[in-house]
Amino acid sequence: AGKGVLAGKTVLVTSGPTHEPIDPVRYLANRSSGRQGHAIAAAAASAGARVTLVSGPVSIPDPAGVTVVRVETAREMLAAVEAALPADIAVFAAAVGDWRPAETRGGKIKKDGAAVPPLTLVENPDILATIAGRIKARPPLVVGFAAETDDVLDNARKKLAKKGCDLLVANDVSHEGGVMGGVENTVHLLARDGALDTWPRLGKDEVGKRLVARFAEILSAMPG
Ligand code: C5P
Repeated sequence: AGKGVLAGKTVLVTSGPTHEPIDPVRYLANRSSGRQGHAIAAAAASAGARVTLVSGPVSIPDPAGVTVVRVETAREMLAAVEAALPADIAVFAAAVGDWRPAETRGGKIKKDGAAVPPLTLVENPDILATIAGRIKARPPLVVGFAAETDDVLDNARKKLAKKGCDLLVANDVSHEGGVMGGVENTVHLLARDGALDTWPRLGKDEVGKRLVARFAEILSAMPG
């Protein structure tokens, strides 16, 4: 800290999947290694920022020099994010479960019954939209991610508007891409004014570094 393009700045990053428990041994999850979010947190710390990483369950190591808050569910993730504010930059790279089981059973559901148990889902809070829509303590730069398989840019534009974020990082996760769980990523960076950057396929660590450099540029160009 003290040196680097984000010296004196505070950065919040969400990363990894969420787990939404069905019973003590089963859960609904999203496919996410946490690699991209963790790489962003690491790059922000290297750039001198004070970084809080709110992470769902992942099997990769904690980045160096970062405060890590571990959570399991989307609701826990939202609470941890709110507790970590204010921040200058908030990056929502986690693959948050859109739904959770309406009830979590306290004991393991048995297979011995004749019927297959029903699974009723309810909607989870949208963490990105919640923070981007805040009046108080809204981070000046709110960054969302979009994992798309089709019409990547079209969907990214819609998502940027719907979520109310300032910048959207869209990645193509169509099966051919091998991005999910992989070490490389092809990203498109979409700004609110429609400006678009497309980067070549790069390692997730390199994507993290380049994203952090862009965030620092955008932040320094902001008034105040
Ligand atoms: O709607 P979708 O899941 O595609 O949007 C992706 C973006 O929204 C990501 O930045 C993700 O971290 C964020 N998100 C969230 N909370 C949710 C769902 C998505 O923060 N419940």
